[in-house]
Amino acid sequence: MHFCPGAQLSRLEAGLALKEITERFPNLRLVSEPERIEPFLPWGRRKFPVAWD
Ligand code: HEM
Repeated sequence: MHFCPGAQLSRLEAGLALKEITERFPNLRLVSEPERIEPFLPWGRRKFPVAWD
């Protein structure tokens, strides 16, 4: 009953954002190992080194 009411909106936003990013930066690529955020739960990246030229 507490399922996230924003889930569909977030999926829509993520889909649009990823489409825009991949179209604007077709050569976008990871250049070295991303640095994770500790602890585990936020699941994020402190550093996410990319290049796009
Ligand atoms: C990537 C984006 C998002 C993630 C990962 C996320 C994740 C979650 C999670 C894990 C819960 C708890 C579900 C549970 O207890 O079973 C939750 C609840 C909730 N989320 Fe999200 N959410 C996101 C985006 C949004 C957005 C965009 C909105 C509003 C526009 C939103 C509004 C809420 C609300 C109001 C609750 C509380 C629901 C309740 O307790 O009944 N969330 N979300």
